[in-house]
Amino acid sequence: MPCGKPSLKAPLMARDITEIALRRRLPGGPSAGGAEDFFYRLGFEARDITQTEQKTFLKVSVFTSLKKRVLAAEKAFSKQPLKSWSLMTRPLGEDDWLHKWKRHFRITPLGKKFAVVPLWHRGSYRGKRRVILLDPQSAFGSGTHETTRLMAELMETLEGRFKTFFDAGCGTGVLSAAAAFLGARTIAGADLDPGSVKTARLNLRLNKIRGRMTRSDLTRQALPGRFDVVAANLISKTLTECQAILGQGTAPGGHLLVSGISLKNFPGFLRDFKPRGLILKKKHRGKSWAAALYQKPGGSGAEPKIQARSEGAS
Ligand SMILES: C[S@@+](CC[C@H](N)C(=O)[O-])C[C@H]1O[C@@H](n2cnc3c(N)ncnc32)[C@H](O)[C@@H]1O
Repeated sequence: MPCGKPSLKAPLMARDITEIALRRRLPGGPSAGGAEDFFYRLGFEARDITQTEQKTFLKVSVFTSLKKRVLAAEKAFSKQPLKSWSLMTRPLGEDDWLHKWKRHFRITPLGKKFAVVPLWHRGSYRGKRRVILLDPQSAFGSGTHETTRLMAELMETLEGRFKTFFDAGCGTGVLSAAAAFLGARTIAGADLDPGSVKTARLNLRLNKIRGRMTRSDLTRQALPGRFDVVAANLISKTLTECQAILGQGTAPGGHLLVSGISLKNFPGFLRDFKPRGLILKKKHRGKSWAAALYQKPGGSGAEPKIQARSEGAS
């Protein structure tokens, strides 16, 4: 699943995250430098490392969703222990996790027009981009993931040319907010995860946008109407399972935008994903992920403007 948190790269729920920490007693003892080097040797970067100092101990930690990184740390420490330090690993509780990863979520550009500003940095963005204020809670969609970025870039090609928008797999609702700022007047969305629905509602309110977010499984439940733009940032398998429903929910002349397809799967996806009556208009490739734009003939839907790095479909 292409969703993400701490380095903000993958779809992480609290239960997936493990803290790997080196701890030593205070006062006295060596600096944190040796502990940081330990993590660098394991492939972590400076931004991944958190230091916590309390009265009686100093802790240097990293957070990971990868079991193999936890095992590698344990193996490295047992082979070559760090004098004065002890190694500890523990799965994080949700509150703990949310609190910690927030430190890594900074103001992030999204597409050409938006800046996603975490709620706790409200008021501190000084640039010219349109601000999307976001409290991600535990939902996916901080705007930093390439799948969201590719989707936002495709949506920007349709600016001012859609009035109704459906956010299929809304996560935080970041794409709904972008859609409203690109001119949509009617916003609706759905997510399988009730927490995401709640978070998307909260974020729409934060951005003073009216919208209707509901809990639904889009592999089974139809969209509540037909929309000028349907944006679905899901995994390839789910997209293929939902294709009839997504296609039916796209208004004549409207566009269906899909993202969340790994580059490796893109050719296979394009073979399997054939929503009836829709025509592939554009492929949009990023570094690791791809997105595509389809159009349903009819209506008065205008052709999207072509952006750099997007290709017309052959
Ligand atoms: C990759 S996240 C996208 C979030 C946001 N739209 C974005 O682009 O940043 C995919 C979202 O789709 C939801 N999802 C996955 N399968 C679904 C399904 N069958 N029906 C509805 N939502 C689904 C997930 O819970 C998750 O919130």
